[in-house]
Amino acid sequence: MEAKELFPNVYKIDGRLATKNLVKGNRVYGEQVFNLNGAEYRSWTPYRSKLSAAIMNGLKTFEFDNGSSVLYLGAANGTTPSHVSDIVGKTGKVYSVEMSKRSMRDLLEVCEERANMLPILSDARDIDSYSDIVGKCDIIYQDVSAREQAEILKKNGALLKKNGYAYFVIKSQSIDVSKEPKLVYKEVLESLEDAFDIVEKLSLEPYDTAHMFAVLRKK
Ligand SMILES: C[S@@+](CC[C@H](N)C(=O)[O-])C[C@H]1O[C@@H](n2cnc3c(N)ncnc32)[C@H](O)[C@@H]1O
Repeated sequence: MEAKELFPNVYKIDGRLATKNLVKGNRVYGEQVFNLNGAEYRSWTPYRSKLSAAIMNGLKTFEFDNGSSVLYLGAANGTTPSHVSDIVGKTGKVYSVEMSKRSMRDLLEVCEERANMLPILSDARDIDSYSDIVGKCDIIYQDVSAREQAEILKKNGALLKKNGYAYFVIKSQSIDVSKEPKLVYKEVLESLEDAFDIVEKLSLEPYDTAHMFAVLRKK
């Protein structure tokens, strides 16, 4: 077996995606672990993570790097945030915002093992509750199952550096179940055009349905 690096700390091993484990021996959600040449890699399944699904579907713009500071909105129980934590490494930061207390209990356990992850129990609509902690970040990753997804991204854009990137999962079902997903994506992206350039758009099929994965750059 060989580990082929696709992006910083992201590898393909035996046809599967994996990240180099920042905390050796630490598993987050029962994922498979590969040990190769003294390094440990955690399998990153596209069925459990939309960022992994986007990479499998040919994502080209990958701005996450060693040392990036990431504002992660909708951290849930830490599955994808833990892989982002692997990617940004010891010198990076993953500010992990989640409003569900139930999910936060699991997320806290993940953050306890990973010094670069900071849990923030908060509503992503209330940026004043965490803006002092976050300051200005390099990247926003947003995956919130809320009706006001576009408004949430616009507000949080104030915490993104100029020309910083936003990775934005648009969940059409949370916005309007009665509308064609394509129409929802179009309206959402149009509403963001004054603040962001649209860099890339990807479907997440077959890993996930009724979601669009968009990469935006702050103007
Ligand atoms: C699809 S899950 C996120 C999964 C996670 N990104 C991953 O890949 O591991 C969506 C999460 O958004 C959270 N959420 C919804 N609205 C929110 C809000 N306004 N502020 C913060 N979190 C929110 C939900 O509680 C839920 O945990």
